[in-house]
Amino acid sequence: MLTRAGPGIMGQMEVPAVLRASELFEGLPDSALRHFLDATVERTAAANEEIFSLGESGEALYLVVSGKVRIFRDSLNGRRKSLAFINPGGVFGEMSLVEERPRSASAEAVEDTTLRMMFRDYYCHYIERYPRFAHNIARIIASRLREANDEVLLLTFEEARTKIAYSLLKMARHNLGRSVSSGWQLPLVHQEVANLAGTSRETATRVLHEFRDRGILSLSPGGIVILDVSRLEEQLFGA
Ligand code: CMP
Repeated sequence: MLTRAGPGIMGQMEVPAVLRASELFEGLPDSALRHFLDATVERTAAANEEIFSLGESGEALYLVVSGKVRIFRDSLNGRRKSLAFINPGGVFGEMSLVEERPRSASAEAVEDTTLRMMFRDYYCHYIERYPRFAHNIARIIASRLREANDEVLLLTFEEARTKIAYSLLKMARHNLGRSVSSGWQLPLVHQEVANLAGTSRETATRVLHEFRDRGILSLSPGGIVILDVSRLEEQLFGA
């Protein structure tokens, strides 16, 4: 659902803390945030609703105000791989906007989510007025490239145990799941772990059972609980 704020209405409003804390606005004054709120459009998406799909033309970037968004690609054989989860204050959809090319991945809401959409015309006007905004976008893209490089290397050369430890830690770092009394619960089934780590489901199950037997994880119908983050990290550093 789209809602456009009338001109000047948001200008009178308090800037939400989530925007002020966002890396998108680092180094920018509150007036820049108010201009952003004034000229962007609110979009809501219910849990599991598609926001856009791979290959569509990309006319806007999105800032997550509340909720959570999954960025993913489907392989030709129908396996889905989550590339990232975008949390409040995070941005996505900036690649098509900057490159003027189709969407490089699909996006869906994981839970009920509120977004602000910034369209290309306004983006061009905004970066002229606030060049720091373009620098912030470049930093976000650079940090994603860095993470993607690490991931390619790890998923190409390392053994299954390392790949699976990395994938679980990445999901926890992206704030997927929730804190439970024994640790951090990830709502993942074994096939999803296999897709993230680029292994077969059988291999994922074998490694998850090994981690469980060593007390690093527990496995339950609700997902995988990371009981001991440090020992899971050791699986990476030992690589
Ligand atoms: P865009 O190509 O417009 O649409 C898909 C979006 O997903 C893309 O912009 C980025 O914002 C985001 N995205 C694509 N790949 C990754 C990745 N590896 N990590 C995080 N975000 C990504």
